[in-house]
Amino acid sequence: MNGAIFYSGKRGSTAQYAQWIGEATGLPVFDANNTQADLADYDCLILGSSVIMMRMTIRKWVRAHWDSIRHKPTLLFSVAGAADDDPLLQGWLRASYPAELIEHSPHVVLGGRLDLSKFSWWMRLFMTIGAYTKPTVEKKRDMLEGFDRVDKASIAPIVQWALLHKEQAAPPTKPPGEIDR
Ligand SMILES: Cc1cc2nc3c(=O)[nH]c(=O)nc-3n(C[C@H](O)[C@H](O)[C@H](O)COP(=O)(O)O)c2cc1C
Repeated sequence: MNGAIFYSGKRGSTAQYAQWIGEATGLPVFDANNTQADLADYDCLILGSSVIMMRMTIRKWVRAHWDSIRHKPTLLFSVAGAADDDPLLQGWLRASYPAELIEHSPHVVLGGRLDLSKFSWWMRLFMTIGAYTKPTVEKKRDMLEGFDRVDKASIAPIVQWALLHKEQAAPPTKPPGEIDR
């Protein structure tokens, strides 16, 4: 199949994962919010999104292009501060994407990065205030100190899915000895 990766992220970690997946699969990579790429050219999609304020940042783009996405095999990946087994993620997913997309698409959660040294003073203040609303010590610490859980090895299931779909549509191989005419 002819696939492509579309992603949305602001501070580089989602773009980094998309790039790694592109390198491992040979699929083209597009920043969803800054591309002229035509979804009609692709029949299999990987959609990657950062999670900001409990929502997937690619959600508006997905809704805007829903008619071109809905009938294609799609894998979703999210780049988040939350751990992949955090039950809150399912709610954020449901609030961001059409139910049909969630139902038909595998979803992989990848560890994100929060580098507070690159934030403005008011964003750091926002994080400090936000930290006090968090229920666990770990989540508070993440918001107060930042974190870096970007991990190249974690793209493995996404690469596997992409290669499987690529193979499914590979042209049939000729029996040995058959000659092109
Ligand atoms: C303002 C802000 C809000 C965030 N909100 C969430 C959130 O609701 N849930 C979560 O799991 N991670 C949250 N994060 C962490 C991001 O998902 C993480 O930093 C991710 O790596 C960002 O992707 P990017 O580097 O591609 O922009 C937030 C980060 C920022 C800066």
